[in-house]
Amino acid sequence: MEGDSTLRTLNEAFETFRKASKSLEQRYRVLEKKIERLNQELSEKNRLMERTRRLAAMGEMAAKIAHEIRNPLASIEIFASLLARELEGSDKGQLAIFISKGVKRLDNLLTNMLVFARAPRPVAATVDIREIIVEVLQTTTPSMAGQVSIRCHYSGDTVIVADGSLIRQAVYNLLINALDSVRGKKGRVEITTERIMNGRDTLKLMVRDNGEGIPEDVMDRIFDPFFTTKQHGTGLGLCIVDSIVKSHGGRIWVESDRAGGATFWMEIPSSIDKEVKG
Ligand SMILES: Nc1ncnc2c1ncn2[C@@H]1O[C@H](COP(=O)(O)OP(=O)(O)OP(=O)(O)O)[C@@H](O)[C@H]1O
Ligand SMILES: [Mg+2]
Repeated sequence: MEGDSTLRTLNEAFETFRKASKSLEQRYRVLEKKIERLNQELSEKNRLMERTRRLAAMGEMAAKIAHEIRNPLASIEIFASLLARELEGSDKGQLAIFISKGVKRLDNLLTNMLVFARAPRPVAATVDIREIIVEVLQTTTPSMAGQVSIRCHYSGDTVIVADGSLIRQAVYNLLINALDSVRGKKGRVEITTERIMNGRDTLKLMVRDNGEGIPEDVMDRIFDPFFTTKQHGTGLGLCIVDSIVKSHGGRIWVESDRAGGATFWMEIPSSIDKEVKG
């Protein structure tokens, strides 16, 4: 009898031990899977870090190359413009205008790439937006003379404290888009500025065209980097305008209706905040 009870106790102890070791085994397997998953996550994170490092290095390199290319481009542009003036009215003069136009597009592409590679850091100075608009119009519209009518209206003070070359780039990108959209039709582009109080002294700029307009289904993607509906577009233009406006503590928005045409507005504070300038 005593032997039976010892055997039962032993059996129970053995059963308890078996259950405990089974549950330990299961826990071990769960832990093993967790470790495997963590290892995978770690190697994926390492891969992403390596990729980010490479992209940063490539961005730096692209910025250096862009700087190197811009100097000879500037000389080519000056010579082509001089030639165009000397040969005005002739076929050769037209060729010189094509060279100058192509160089300007390349230069704009490089500037967009540079701003994209290194987030814009505005250097504050006193700038006259009116002068910037006039200068941008002089470099963009001569080749479209007769095809598009441009109307400018400046209301109030056009002088603000901002980064002139960045603002110039933003206006340039908006104007090029407006001109692209009216190509091939009797185009109208309207640029206006006004001084408003929007919590603070602000300059509001509008660029309106009567072009093809922006379809509703692409509206929320047009500021995304590399989004383009153009055959030769890079899709950097509006993304750059957006980051320039934000770097100045301002905002940009767009409206487009079924009647056609698009209207872009941007608001820039009359002086850059120190925090925004960073
Ligand atoms: N004024 C406009 N009228 C109609 N569509 C526009 C206008 N401005 C922008 N878009 C649309 O937004 C897209 C993105 O514009 P964005 O300026 O960023 O790039 P892109 O003009 O296509 O190329 P890039 O500026 O690099 O030459 C354009 O491809 C076009 O579809
Ligand atoms: Mg563009």
